[in-house]
Amino acid sequence: MAQSALFKVDNKEIALPIIVGSENEKAIDVRNLRAETGCITYDDGYGNTGSCLSSVTYIDGEEGILRYRGYPIEQLAENSSFVETAYLIIHGELPTLEQRRQFSLALTENAAIHSGMEHLFEGFPSGAHPMAILSAMLNSLGCYYPHLATNDHQRDLENYAQTAALIISKVRTVAAYSYRASRGLPYIYPRRDLPYCENFLHMMFSEPYQPYVALPEVAAALNLFLLLHADHEQNCSTSTVRMVASSGASLFASTAAGVCALWGPLHGGANMAVIEMLKSIHAEGDDGSKFVEAAKSGTADKRLMGFGHRVYKNYDPRAKIIKKSFYSALSSLKIKDDPLLNIAMHLEEAALKDDYFLARKLYPNVDFYSGLIMRALGIPENMFTVMFAIGRMPGWIANWKETAVNPKGRIYRPRQVYTGPTKRDYLPLHQRK
Ligand SMILES: CC(C)(COP(=O)(O)OP(=O)(O)OC[C@H]1O[C@@H](n2cnc3c(N)ncnc32)[C@H](O)[C@@H]1OP(=O)(O)O)[C@@H](O)C(=O)NCCC(=O)NCCS
Repeated sequence: MAQSALFKVDNKEIALPIIVGSENEKAIDVRNLRAETGCITYDDGYGNTGSCLSSVTYIDGEEGILRYRGYPIEQLAENSSFVETAYLIIHGELPTLEQRRQFSLALTENAAIHSGMEHLFEGFPSGAHPMAILSAMLNSLGCYYPHLATNDHQRDLENYAQTAALIISKVRTVAAYSYRASRGLPYIYPRRDLPYCENFLHMMFSEPYQPYVALPEVAAALNLFLLLHADHEQNCSTSTVRMVASSGASLFASTAAGVCALWGPLHGGANMAVIEMLKSIHAEGDDGSKFVEAAKSGTADKRLMGFGHRVYKNYDPRAKIIKKSFYSALSSLKIKDDPLLNIAMHLEEAALKDDYFLARKLYPNVDFYSGLIMRALGIPENMFTVMFAIGRMPGWIANWKETAVNPKGRIYRPRQVYTGPTKRDYLPLHQRK
């Protein structure tokens, strides 16, 4: 028997259906609430709002579970690669050998960007943030493929597989060029013979007179980093992608908006904020103890960055995996005695036994260690969030598709509770105080 929730307003009682997800998650379907009662729901920050039905990613924040298309993150991290996982997320199933070969080929063939775009990079002032460049460039990329960026979902969906591969491939080229443009360095073209991560590192760090050869450990750590970021359900940037997509916008425009949403320090910018926090603790001669005390004040500027999560009220499963790989990367790269690392370890240890953090279920999230791992790989700090964007691209693409294929899809348009002045009459300038 279908379940329902009884809801009473002004003596009128209505039954609202309860939707049950495949993991037995329950949601009260309030779509008829306003029509039947005149009320809307109020949920600042959307913590209790299901904005869509989705079959991409499952998270149980209380248990620390994360699965892409049903596959546990631990198994994918152990056995898969970023490229294969991207295919899984974008297309819904793990690829066969032939599908994986075709996908890799499409990535190789799409790696270069139109030479006209190089002039666009030159238009940015030196020192421009690579996230600003990335977002602008992703949107511009659509201009070079007008047949894939029609803003007509039907037509854009016909080319979904091609567009998805093109964006997954080119985002890394655009990202590397953003870095090189921001440093005034010459662009390094992609190579056909290199796998995804090695090719990215080559475009970042090779010089025309000296090729960069990635250590296998470095490429493997990057691969894992990207895989762990490939999707994360309805977070701020993914919801933004869906919001923009709901108006009919193309994959290029929608994912460019996702980059902007990711940029902030409470979301993708947290990995960079963690390093900044560690540096400032170090500069003040603190071992982290004073900072942990200050972080308990609850003020936004003193938060322990890389701690806490809207959904995880347990150890973030990605943080567990990345922490383990971080230590093995450190020993392969022979990195010892990094003072920031010592502070990070001390912060984690202190917070994990402090009542303030325990009571609020604040545990390390993926960003706590991902900033440190990228630092160890030689990725510049202002590229950290760009790396997150490359990793999150499959998730944004899959969520765009879910929005675009929904035949009953409506434009995302929340309501509000108005708290401004009630009606008042216009005052001529000379009467205003
Ligand atoms: C991720 C984050 C934005 C989630 O925010 P949220 O779900 O809205 O959580 P809230 O802001 O409601 O926080 C709940 C409580 O914990 C406290 N808190 C949350 N994160 C904290 C942190 N990192 N350090 C110190 N206190 C924190 C809040 O002050 C609040 O305390 P209160 O109940 O006494 O008012 C938040 O934990 C945060 O800012 N973390 C640091 C940034 C970060 O690492 N972001 C990356 C996320 S992957």
